[in-house]
This record gives sequence, structure tokens and C-alpha cells, in this order.
Amino acid sequence: MNSGHILLLGMGGTIAGVAMDRAKPMAYQAGAIPVSGLVQDLELDEDFGEIEAVQVANVDSRHMTEELLIQLGWAVKDGLERPDIVGIVVTHGTDTMEETGIFLHATLGKLASHYKKAVILTGAMLPANADHADGPSNLRAALYLAKEAKQTEQFGILAVMAGKLCLARELSKQHTHALDALVVNAHEIDGPIHKRQADLSLPGQAQWPWVEVVTSHGGASGKLVDWLVSEHVDGIVVAGTGQGSIHGRLADALIKAAELGIPVVRSSRTGAGAVFSEISEPDSARNWLSARDLSPPKARIALQLAILEANSRKTDDWQSIFATI
Ligand code: SIN
Repeated sequence: MNSGHILLLGMGGTIAGVAMDRAKPMAYQAGAIPVSGLVQDLELDEDFGEIEAVQVANVDSRHMTEELLIQLGWAVKDGLERPDIVGIVVTHGTDTMEETGIFLHATLGKLASHYKKAVILTGAMLPANADHADGPSNLRAALYLAKEAKQTEQFGILAVMAGKLCLARELSKQHTHALDALVVNAHEIDGPIHKRQADLSLPGQAQWPWVEVVTSHGGASGKLVDWLVSEHVDGIVVAGTGQGSIHGRLADALIKAAELGIPVVRSSRTGAGAVFSEISEPDSARNWLSARDLSPPKARIALQLAILEANSRKTDDWQSIFATI
């Protein structure tokens, strides 16, 4: 098995977390253990080969920033381009793993497929010192999947949690504490991956467009959208009810925002399923776009990247770019 080594990039999270009291594993500090310490007791095969551990960050992922996404993105790109690295594993907090997943998918998915390498995101729902901690088994699975990607033809930007391998694009945290909280609605990968991977530029600058998520609900108003527009927001994702339906007052404000040229993407707050154009709202007449199967937080990152890409290509057509993600 020992041919080429694995790059292990640590971002922090519960997988690197420590509970103050082992009997109360829900009270812990995320991002407490260095990533090199996570592999020490994994009992990998003797011939597994070298693991090069690099600490990109060690944070609770609620505090992720665009700067950290950029740092991670360039570290992944570097690993993909290095001939001595056969695969990459990223340990990450689960709270925003889906946002990092869509970011890596959109910017480096095609490159990973080109080099026939897997970039596998993983994390944990229980801190490292909890009884039955899930981090070690998730990390072990990720390391083997990354190592064997060329033989299994399972490459691209992927994720493994609770024994389930999926495209990182399909991650979506849908439970507060279940061990499979992120993959519960993702399609399990059980063969070679032929799915197209997106190909947007990896941002090199920290100044990303300002994109906010607003939620539709009973009694909604357009006041928040009006305020965002007055503050020069660059894009708005609306988390609609059901199939992405929007309260009339909120819709009126979003129509006005789109008329002013502000990109508006319509998603659903339900947590699963997809939002399709023209079903429940006339997107094209309003110059809005549907998020398809992207959750509101993923649609937010996708819209930021689509606006950045449109700016760099000097086009207004952010919609066509968003549609490739
Ligand atoms: C985090 O996202 O960093 C904390 C929660 C977790 O990893 O499960």
C-alpha cells in the first residue's frame, strides 16, 4: 500500500475537541488538540505510509472566515499539484463543514479529478476524549479512502462521516447531535465517480462580496432587505418556506433589490430537497435564480464565488456561473 503519502490538513472542530468532564461530552472546547495528535492512536496498517500533518487553523468552525477558506484552498491546491501526495484529508468542525465543502468543490473539484486524487473532509460530533468518540473512526476511514482513491476511482472533493462517503457538495448538517448529522440526506458513493466537478477560480483576495441570508416566515417584512440594499449588499440568498416560497412583503423587497441589479438566489429553509425555477415563484421574470439543491449556507458561498468569478471575467452573468456549481 505504501506508495506516496497523505497530506492531512487540520482546521479544528470537535474532532480536535476536548470535554472538560468526560461524563458531559456536550460541553467541550473545539479545536484543542493539534492535528498531528489525531493520528497517533489510529492503528493504521504498518505499510500505510507517511502522513504529513499541517495545521492550517485550529478553530471552532463557527468562527470560519473567508481568509481561512483561502488559506485552506491554497494548501489543498498545493497538495493536489505535488506528485508525492496521493490524497488529502481535511479535519474540520461539522457546524460549517458544508460551507467549506461547497467552496472546495466549486474551486478545486475539477483539479482534484484531473489529478485523480480525493480530498476528503471529515470531522466528529463527539470530542476526542468522549466515550465512543466518532472522530478516530471517521479519520481512519478518510485516510484509507484518500489513499485508495486512484484504484477506486473515487476522486474529487468528498466527505466521510458515520461510515458514509458522499460528495462534499451534498453535505448539510441536519441534526444537532446525531453522529450522521451531516450525511443523513447525502447519496452514498459506492462506485467510481463520474459526476462533473465545478471549476471556478480559487480566490486570492480576502475581500469577498458581502452576501447575506434572509429567511421567509409568517409575518415577514421587507425591512431587512431594504436595509441591506441601503448598505450596498452585494447579493442576497433567501431561505424560503417549503419549496422556496416567499412571503409577499419580503418578495416585494427582493424584487426591488433585483431590479437594482443585486443578485438574489432563492433556496429553502426546510433542510432537504431542492428548489426549482418557476415552481412556487416566477424566478426568471424577477431576475432571481433558484438554488436547486444547495442549502441556504451553501448557496451563500456559491453566490459569493459566482459574483467573484463574474467580476474577474468582466461579465454580469453571475447566473450562468452559479449554475455550474
Ligand atoms: C465546530 O464546528 O467546530 C464545532 C462543532 C463540531 O465540530 O461538531
